[in-house]
Amino acid sequence: MSTNPAAPPPGFYAQNGQFFCEGVAMTDLAAQFGTPSYVYSAALMRQAWQNFHRQVTASLSPAHAPLICFAVKANPNLAVLRLFAALGAGADIVSSGELQRALKAGITAEKIVFAGVGKRDDEIAAALDHGILQFSVESVEELQRIAALAAAKNVTARAAIRVNPDIDGGTHAKISTGNKHNKFGIEQAQVAEIFAHARQLPSLQLDGLSVHIGSQLTELKPLALAFAALRQLVLSLRQSGHRLTRLDLGGGIGVSYRGEKLIDLAAYAALVNENVGDLGCRLIFEPGRFLVAKAGILLTRVIATKANSSRNFVILDAAMNDLMRPALYDSYHDIVPVVTRHAPPQRVDVVGPVCESADIFAEHRHLPPLTPGDLVMIADTGAYGASMSNSYNSRHLPAEIMVEDSKARLVRRAISTLDLLQFEPD
Ligand code: LLP
Repeated sequence: MSTNPAAPPPGFYAQNGQFFCEGVAMTDLAAQFGTPSYVYSAALMRQAWQNFHRQVTASLSPAHAPLICFAVKANPNLAVLRLFAALGAGADIVSSGELQRALKAGITAEKIVFAGVGKRDDEIAAALDHGILQFSVESVEELQRIAALAAAKNVTARAAIRVNPDIDGGTHAKISTGNKHNKFGIEQAQVAEIFAHARQLPSLQLDGLSVHIGSQLTELKPLALAFAALRQLVLSLRQSGHRLTRLDLGGGIGVSYRGEKLIDLAAYAALVNENVGDLGCRLIFEPGRFLVAKAGILLTRVIATKANSSRNFVILDAAMNDLMRPALYDSYHDIVPVVTRHAPPQRVDVVGPVCESADIFAEHRHLPPLTPGDLVMIADTGAYGASMSNSYNSRHLPAEIMVEDSKARLVRRAISTLDLLQFEPD
């Protein structure tokens, strides 16, 4: 029992040699909910939201009616969506599944934007039925399909063209979306023709542009180029008599996983203002990672250790199915023992039990000696962690825990093979 009446600090911190999240000991969370489990700090999510809101949206003129549409794919847990909904968030979705989640969390359709290169008819229909704010259209064929489905329902679809500005975001190739060779968006040279074509589609209100050049961006320069390209398009489309009322500037703001130099949000806001601030358009932002990455950790336990003549392996009960990022993008995540050890570090490879050599969380990492039963945290996994988890090797889908005001609650229980076997006939 703490005798300190002060509220615990937000997020994850060490006290008396062991880690806590908002006043709750990690050891207690592991005992109560098991491992591997994702642990989220509600305070850190709110803090990230306030940061973005204060430095970006609140710094813009209210005439822009700026809207933050949380990129649901980063962390679609209902508890997370509800937290952002209560702060006024909209949602950036890429499937009807994400639409269902956003609506269930209380995010209204007029705050929902729908991107993605392969929207199915049934997904478009569902979004039309709810009357979402915007379809971010990624091909001419899709534009026609949306128009036809809207016409059949006797409704008007609000749409923006997602522009592919052929700009390299300078991020990992697998999360880069703004180059010509990427499948995303429509190249600038085709946009005017599509706007002209859309005039013949009365069920379509095409009055916006959107851009998203990649994720985990750490440089402003590519964003500056992308926003400048949008500006040019708005000006030339207006010259041709088209109405432009909305600009969706995408997400992509990076976070620090390993001391990366980050985009300064005030400079980002200034860039937005400079490039598109005078166009009289509503501005939409789609941050995902920025709002949740630092607010989550993956809590896992050491199953075993082993050494051979070249390596020391620490084998965790979490694996690439729980957290795909290192296997997929060679991404770096800090690995932190829950109970602090004051012993000289050893060079280890931290791996999971999955039968793939890609199932490695860290190679050649210097960590204090770890033994079976020890708890460790894989840091900065609140974004694209649980959301990309799967049951490969017939493993459980990990549990998710939200900690708030010194209380922990299970916001998704682990999903077991027995759960999944229900869907396969006997
Ligand atoms: N808007 C659109 C249209 C997007 O495609 C994305 C992310 C976002 C917004 C949000 O981007 P953020 O602010 O989170 O960077 N699984 C990868 C990231 C994939 C991002 C896909 N699109 C990872 O773990 O790094």
